[in-house]
Formats: sequence, structure tokens, C-alpha cells
Amino acid sequence: MPSINRRLLPLLALAGLSLAGAAIGMANEPAASASATGGYDDQAPLSAVAQLGKKLFFDPSLSGGGQMSCATCHDPANHYAPANDLTVQLGGAHLDQPGIRTVPSLAYKMSTPSFSIGEESAADEAAEASPMTEASGVALANAPAAVTGPLTAQAVIKADAAAANLVPQGGMFWDGRVDSLEEQALQPMISPFEMANADAATVYAKLKKGYGKDISALFGDNVLNDQDMTISEIGFALARYQIEEPSFHPYTSKYDYYLRGKAVLTDAETRGLKLFDDANKGNCASCHLDKMTGDGQMPNFTDFEFEALGAPRNPAIPANADARYYDTGICGPLRNDTYSAQQQNCGLFKTPTLRNVATRHVFFHNGIYRTLEDVTRFYVKRDTNPDEIYPKDASGKVLKYDDLPAQYQANIDVIDAPMNRKPGDTPALNDAEIADVVAFLKTLTDGYEPATDGMKAAK
Ligand code: HEC
Ligand code: HEC
Repeated sequence: MPSINRRLLPLLALAGLSLAGAAIGMANEPAASASATGGYDDQAPLSAVAQLGKKLFFDPSLSGGGQMSCATCHDPANHYAPANDLTVQLGGAHLDQPGIRTVPSLAYKMSTPSFSIGEESAADEAAEASPMTEASGVALANAPAAVTGPLTAQAVIKADAAAANLVPQGGMFWDGRVDSLEEQALQPMISPFEMANADAATVYAKLKKGYGKDISALFGDNVLNDQDMTISEIGFALARYQIEEPSFHPYTSKYDYYLRGKAVLTDAETRGLKLFDDANKGNCASCHLDKMTGDGQMPNFTDFEFEALGAPRNPAIPANADARYYDTGICGPLRNDTYSAQQQNCGLFKTPTLRNVATRHVFFHNGIYRTLEDVTRFYVKRDTNPDEIYPKDASGKVLKYDDLPAQYQANIDVIDAPMNRKPGDTPALNDAEIADVVAFLKTLTDGYEPATDGMKAAK
């Protein structure tokens, strides 16, 4: 057996942890006292490594200008997404350099698999197979529910699932360019429009100065004397914080309580859920998985797969002022590897979780939409009424898919409902149905208090 590379040890440890963490959604049945504690009492205190991660997460001195920490953009008060409503956040040494993509929430990232190009996710296959399918890892995580509850097994109706389709999946960021939370940490620290340190050596010097004692105590002097090892352990500490700190994955939304049989959905929410699931209506659940799994794990509202949806270009992103500039997701500008060179990946972005989505101010990778109604309308009208979705040129021609160069437009998903209709067809959802879907999306916000609702529902 080859000896295990020391660098892999934290990863192996994390793999175990994230499996353990995955059980939180099931094990942490909200108690009657849940409202007082936010729904996660009985939690082990943070480990020493996670406590170091916490200090790092909130430390502005780790940024080039000394004014910005991870929490500036990933605000714990707003489910680890920005509290303001800017399309893109301002970073850099003087906090005046606009980013190019919206800031994802850091909640519920723990079970994100590494980036890979694989068959349509194990999740989908498992869901299509019999409920008794023996599966592991992600497959198990999203296998059909064998539990008794308000909902039955998820029928995943993804049109291309039958063909052994190769799809990109997993990884961190909208383009999946790094594999894990721990590898991810250096990137914002040296990004010119985020924390904007000059380079990794600058980060290393700051870490030695500010955290030398902690790093030596936790990882040993050898680590502290090595730049790469220090930065790698800092990434590990930040990842441990995001995994161990319960507020990154509380599972306290109304929908979570509903799945556990402890809350009742309103009529509009119930209709919205049905439309969200219905393969001929919203079909949202084919990508944003919403069923509890056989082992009682709560759904993540993503299958972690990449899709090109063809969202309209957003002039509010300063980079878009250059007509030659395009954000093509996996194909760059921020990703540069063998996958970014493959034409079939251009325009594809990772399917985000919809947990806490109603608390976000801007939607999609480019922030083109500001209301959930508009996002939902995009899905159902992109193909039936493109003139209501995209701008027109001087001659009145609708500029469909205006945020992707023509040579990549064939990558855009026109197979999965509701994006499989033709101009003039009736949209899959009318305005009242869109309102119902949005009512359902609003049940996905953490911090729900079931007791008071139960009383209301009983009346
Ligand atoms: C200036 C705002 C800003 C700061 C500060 C910032 N981030 Fe981010 N973060 C972003 C943006 C924007 C993205 C998405 C970038 C992309 O997809 O290319 C992101 C993505 C991420 C992701 C991937 C999430 C996903 O959905 O795949 C993680 C994890 C993350 N950041 C952690 C951190 C950590 C840890 C820090 C501090 C070391 C930090 N961020 C600091 C803006 C910021
Ligand atoms: C084929 C897979 C697929 C289907 C079906 C699908 N989505 Fe999505 N969803 C995505 C992807 C991919 C993104 C990110 C796209 C981007 O940023 O370019 C996304 C983004 C979103 C967002 C924005 C989240 C954020 O944080 O910015 C919302 C809201 C959303 N979807 C709701 C829905 C609803 C409602 C439906 C059903 C009407 C639906 N989705 C159907 C794949 C899908």
C-alpha cells in the first residue's frame, strides 16, 4: 500500500467529518427549546482548529487593506451571504474594486463533492433506481426516501438522465474551480477584488505574525516554517469552522419542520411545492433536490451539477461594459485548466442551493434578477416569450442568450422542462402559479419557529 500523503490527512479527516456533519440534519431534531437556541443546542463546542478558523474568518487584518474579512461578504447575519443589495461586492485594498460574480452563501456547502465530470449524478441514478438501492456517499445522501413522512420518494425527471450523459458536477465557486473548502481559502485572500493581498507570501507573513503561536501549538513548528503547509492548515482551519459551526447548516426552515412532520404548509406553499416538483410544471426539483433521503438526511436543494441556463447579461456588472468580455463559468475567466478549455463546458454554472434563497438580494451568478418572481418567470418564459426576458437590438430583434458568445449557445439547456418549450407555447407556470412557487421558496429560510405556527395551523 502506498504511504498516505501527509497533505491528504486533513482531507481524509474532513471526509469523515463531513459524513458525521451530514447527519446533523437528521440527528438534530429541533427541541421545544429550539427557538431560544436557534435550533442547535446540544452541539459539541468548536474544536481548537475550528476556533482558529473562526478567528481567521472574522479577521480583517488578513486582507490587503486591513478592512475586509470573510464575514464582510459572507455575513453570518444573512446566512453567510452579503447583507447589502449590491450586484457584486466591492473589495481590494480600498474596497473599490468590483467583483464579477454574486457572492454565494456559505451555508450548506459541507456536502459539496469534489469537481468531476461524470455520469449524470449518482443522486439522480439512485433516485431513479428502486428505493432499496444500496448506495453510498452522495448517492445515499439523495436516495429516495424510505421514511414515512408527508412526502414520498423523489421522482427525478431530468430529460437527459436516461442517456449516459457526462455532466460536470461539484467543486467550489460558481465554476467549480477548486475542490474543497480548505483549498478554497487562499483564493479570496489574494483575489484583487476581494481581500487583495499581493500574493501568498504576504498572506504567509501575516499568518506567522498574527497566528504563529496558534499554528505552532496546533500543527507544530515544522508547519509554521513552511509557507505552503501553513496556508494549507489555515484552509483546513477555515473549513473546520464552516463544518463544525452549526449556523452553517442549521436545517431550521419551515420546510425542514414540515419534512419532520412538525409544521403545516399553507395552501399557497403546498401548491408551490407541488409545482416545484411537477415534471410538467416547474420541474425545479429535478435540479434543486427537495426530498428527505432514505437515511433521513435533509435535502440540499441542489444536485451539484452544472447547467447553462442562458441568463440575460447584467449591465450592472462593471466588467460587462466591455462587449468582448463574457463570464463563461467553467470556461473562465477565473478558471484555467483542462476543463476550461473544453467547449462543451462553456456557459455552465453550478446549481446553487435554494436554502435561504428568499434572503438573497440578487440571483444567478451575474445577479441579473432581484426578485424570486422574476427568476421563476425567467425559467418559464425564456423560450415561450423571449421578448419579455432579453433586450432587443436597434432593429427590434430579440437578443436571446445575450450573455454567451454564439459558439457556446448550443450548450444552453433546452431539454429539461420548463425550458423545453417553443415561442408561442403557453408558459409552464402562469402568474398565480409563479406566486405559489415563490411562497414555497420562502419556506426555505432558516430560523423558523414551529410552535407558534403549529398553534395557528391548529386553529
Ligand atoms: C469581496 C467579497 C468576498 C470576500 C471578502 C470573501 N468572499 Fe468568498 N466568495 C465571494 C464570491 C464573489 C464568491 C463566488 C466567486 C466565484 O464563483 O467565482 C465566493 C465564493 C466562496 C466560496 C464557494 C461557495 C460556493 O458556493 O461554491 C467559499 C467556500 C468562500 N467564498 C469562502 C470564503 C472565505 C473562507 C473567505 C475569507 C478567507 C471569503 N470567502 C472571503 C466573495 C467574497
Ligand atoms: C436544469 C436544472 C435546473 C432546473 C430545472 C431549475 N434550476 Fe434553478 N438553477 C439552476 C442553475 C444551474 C442555477 C444557476 C444559474 C446561473 O447562475 O447561471 C439556478 C439558480 C436558481 C436560483 C438563483 C439562486 C441564487 O442563489 O442565485 C433560483 C431562485 C432558482 N434557480 C429557482 C428555480 C426554480 C423556482 C425552478 C423551477 C421553476 C428552477 N430553479 C429550475 C438549475 C436549475
